Amino acid sequence: MAMKKLVVGNWKMHGSRASNAELIKGVLAADLPKSAPHADVAVCVPFVYLSDVAEMLRHTTVACGAQDVSSRAQGAYTGEVSASMIREFGARYVIVGHSERRSYHAESSQLVADKAKAALAEGLTPIVCVGETLAEREANQTEFVVAEQLKAVIDTLGAQIAEVVVAYEPVWAIGTGKTATPEQAQAVHAFLRVQLVAAHPDAARVPLLYGGSVKPDNARELFSQPDIDGGLIGGASLKAADFVAIAQAAV
Ligand code: PGA
Repeated sequence: MAMKKLVVGNWKMHGSRASNAELIKGVLAADLPKSAPHADVAVCVPFVYLSDVAEMLRHTTVACGAQDVSSRAQGAYTGEVSASMIREFGARYVIVGHSERRSYHAESSQLVADKAKAALAEGLTPIVCVGETLAEREANQTEFVVAEQLKAVIDTLGAQIAEVVVAYEPVWAIGTGKTATPEQAQAVHAFLRVQLVAAHPDAARVPLLYGGSVKPDNARELFSQPDIDGGLIGGASLKAADFVAIAQAAV
């Protein structure tokens, strides 16, 4: 039996208590266990909404997660949020190393790896994002860049690399409406799979998500590629109908 696809919404810095409630209501109304039986679904929300959203999702099949985590367990780190705090609010996942954090907050691959480790230490599943910029793709650096980003995580986690989720998000496809073609995405996913398996045989089971302008009309083709195990969905996760349609594209 094929592994279920994993479809994760990344709300980024969007929402309000009222609009979140509407969005979750719309997603739950779709009865995903029946209408999207081939997808596991989660939403990654701003920290301050974790409590509300976890409560709304209690006793449902939709999981929730955060969008970042501190690399430190606790201490004098003003403004940071620890993995144990995120866990306490019912989150299962945490995105680490999103390209918006790598670029706007200068997060290094080593810091991203340390965040993944901190998440795992508290039982959270890190969704580790990797991806190249347009300039890097045009300079044929894609494999070099994603391998370097992934290597820091592999070296830091050791055998625990098998416990993560990896999301390939080409920076040039995020929020731009430009999607990598299914073939372009598949090629990078296959490359990432080889790196993971070489690091640890158990890492063959690591779900590889594609992210970058996934929409209801391109999700099916992307998800049907052999090494694409699901998606990390930004803009389209803010509309219940679109997010649900993407989950339903998993076959
Ligand atoms: P997008 O964002 O779907 O809006 O392109 C994806 C992401 O950044 O996770």
